[in-house]
Amino acid sequence: HGTSQVNDRGHLEIGGVDTIELAHQYGTPLYVYDVALIRERARGFQTTFKNMGVKAQVAYASKAFSSIAMFQLAKEEGLSLDVVSGGELFTALVADFPVERIHFHGNNKSYEELEMAVQKKIGCVVVDNFLELDLLQEICEKNDYIMPILLRVTPGIEAHTHDYILTGQEDSKFGFDLQSGQAKEAMEIAVKRSHLDILGIHCHIGSQIFETTGFKMAAEKLFDTLKEWKEESGFEARVVNLGGGFGIRYTEEDSPIPVSRYVEEIIGDVQTHVKKLNMKMPEIWIEPGRSLVGDAGTTIYSVGSKKEIPNIRQYLAIDGGMSDNIRPALYQAKYEAVLANRVNDKAEETVSIAGKCCESGDMLIWDLPLPKANHEDYLAVFCTGAYGYSMANNYNRITRPAVVFVEDGEAQLVIKRESFEDLIRLDLPFQSKSKILK
Ligand code: LLP
Repeated sequence: HGTSQVNDRGHLEIGGVDTIELAHQYGTPLYVYDVALIRERARGFQTTFKNMGVKAQVAYASKAFSSIAMFQLAKEEGLSLDVVSGGELFTALVADFPVERIHFHGNNKSYEELEMAVQKKIGCVVVDNFLELDLLQEICEKNDYIMPILLRVTPGIEAHTHDYILTGQEDSKFGFDLQSGQAKEAMEIAVKRSHLDILGIHCHIGSQIFETTGFKMAAEKLFDTLKEWKEESGFEARVVNLGGGFGIRYTEEDSPIPVSRYVEEIIGDVQTHVKKLNMKMPEIWIEPGRSLVGDAGTTIYSVGSKKEIPNIRQYLAIDGGMSDNIRPALYQAKYEAVLANRVNDKAEETVSIAGKCCESGDMLIWDLPLPKANHEDYLAVFCTGAYGYSMANNYNRITRPAVVFVEDGEAQLVIKRESFEDLIRLDLPFQSKSKILK
């Protein structure tokens, strides 16, 4: 997929660059991003909205993969940006991302984070709860700024996905509850606040969702609510944000539709529903993360040790694991992989790919058919672009990998490999007060 192909040396090539050469140059594990594919996805979303005549903002949910280079690419592609912490916001500012296109999310934004958002005059804060309504008003008054806001609501939709990544159901830590009237109360408070400019509402029903039914149901519910609010309080929304969550293909078990079709189906339904309710079509915002960067990322590992338990299993270890990709351990996420240096070789055995962390659960892939591999080989794991690097950690004091962007036959390092010195950068020596040892 994307610009991935096998070159005449039998090596996996991405963006016209030989991944084995990348491994030699930058070391492994290595994250390789296919820039052209990210552009294609970004344009796919945006063009579809344009073709449907719907005013929209496509905000990249940067939690999927955030870095200065990624934010610069998002800026270049005309995307908006969804950030969820002071750290992501800081990175966006350093990347010189247009502040008016930054949206700030989170269920417990701190005073300092909100103040940063206000002082930098970002485009929108997605308000999650009553405390935030108060804090934000106070900070805006103090800084003499009127902040555009959306209210995040939970529409009570249970999308079919892993339990941990469900967010739209009633029993959720996120947003104002629709059912109980909490959301309406929030709207009534917000419209009265002098320094809050309420643009509309937001919902996000979950992640890695293939069916458009859940999105449509949630959207219809939002519009029914807005109709009610308009009739009862005269409030008219200018923006409706439908969140992210569009699923991608990790393995053959997954059956996503192209990004343009997600938009066509969901927005088509919205248009019909809005017409039925005799309402004006507001601006539509969405926040895809995974579907913009997920399949654009590939991780290249060096193969290491092998353990064979006769008649039971063969373990093949790689030089990374849950420290650079925690998704299999956390969500039983599945991935496909090939030997990057011998893509065309036939599979001869079934192996299970083990990470190098001191943890039995650190298994990347179970039962993968592969050619007979040894420590001279490289393994390429596909679709690691979303929630891979961004959830990477230093368990076992393993250093986080480097990240390269490839496009048109050229590679550039966009995140350096962590060094041992980086690992101890924040450590301070222990000043012992023990008398016994002295
Ligand atoms: N908007 C909101 C409010 C969100 O909470 C999320 C994801 C997104 C947008 C983007 O969703 P996406 O398009 O990427 O599905 N770590 C998990 C995924 C957690 C998603 C959290 N929120 C994983 O690795 O699968």
